Amino acid sequence: MITLKTEELSALQLQDYLQYAIAPRPICFASTIDSEGNVNLSPFSFFNMFSTKPPICIFSPARRVRDNTIKHTLENVLQVKECVINIVNYDMVQQMSLASTEYARGINEFEKAGFTMLKSDIIAPPRVAEAPVQLECVINDIIPLGDAHGAGNLVLAEVKLIHINEEVLDENGKIDQQKMDLVARLGGDWYCRVTRDNLFKVAKPLSKLGIGVDRLPKTVRLSKVLTGNDLGMLGNVEKLPTENEIDLISQLAEVKDVLDATIGDVTNRERELHELAQNFLKRGEVELALKIVLL
Ligand SMILES: Cc1cc2nc3c(=O)[nH]c(=O)nc-3n(C[C@H](O)[C@H](O)[C@H](O)COP(=O)(O)O)c2cc1C
Repeated sequence: MITLKTEELSALQLQDYLQYAIAPRPICFASTIDSEGNVNLSPFSFFNMFSTKPPICIFSPARRVRDNTIKHTLENVLQVKECVINIVNYDMVQQMSLASTEYARGINEFEKAGFTMLKSDIIAPPRVAEAPVQLECVINDIIPLGDAHGAGNLVLAEVKLIHINEEVLDENGKIDQQKMDLVARLGGDWYCRVTRDNLFKVAKPLSKLGIGVDRLPKTVRLSKVLTGNDLGMLGNVEKLPTENEIDLISQLAEVKDVLDATIGDVTNRERELHELAQNFLKRGEVELALKIVLL
């Protein structure tokens, strides 16, 4: 491990280390206007949602590292406290990147990047028609985080209207994560795309109280086969099986094969049982896997 003191790093070094490590970051493609009605469109990956009710998103146009000037988006939201947060999918990524060009003040990046302006319902800045989700927001607060090169400015945006393209909805009218085809920003020029192949589910522990990894026997916790993810799944089971339930699992053909083949060979038995349990975990058979590792 290397350990770095942030006070000894330049703004550029900080940007590099932190942006590569704190990734992927969602992209707020913010459309704003100034008091004269000039439209601006710029992406910000210092962005997330921070509250559900009230629905608050925050993004941060930072002071330019180069010359410490502030971005047009920040100037605009200081003048007109409204913005549209447009969500970026893969089909938009190159044009979105083009819109991040430091065009002169007053230049409309919708036009430069070739996006379609769509009138908003309750605020003045237009929406990006191509975005699968468009959030009409009013700005409740703007909090500067400093005045040095690279200092952020938190823009607290309260979502008032959510527009969703029907194409990304499932049959129940909810957003289908697989249809969104989202992109996110990483360090440097890196992005990632949320493809169907990359998506996976993790069962929420909220609905039940898992026993915890600490309740698993030491042989399981220190297993050379089971990974941290495996232990996390085993620790999420609500209660340890009874001795009777554990005994019964030895009748399962695959378990019986291992037991028969490893009589008197404790080390290999443990390894093979853990491998077998791991296969069951891969198939989502967590309770069965737990019984096997407890044999
Ligand atoms: C994907 C992406 C994410 C970005 N995120 C941020 C950010 O969070 N904060 C920031 O200050 N600049 C960010 N930038 C750079 C701004 O988009 C860029 O400085 C832009 O020109 C600002 O435009 P404006 O001056 O019209 O507001 C990002 C650029 C890209 C391509």
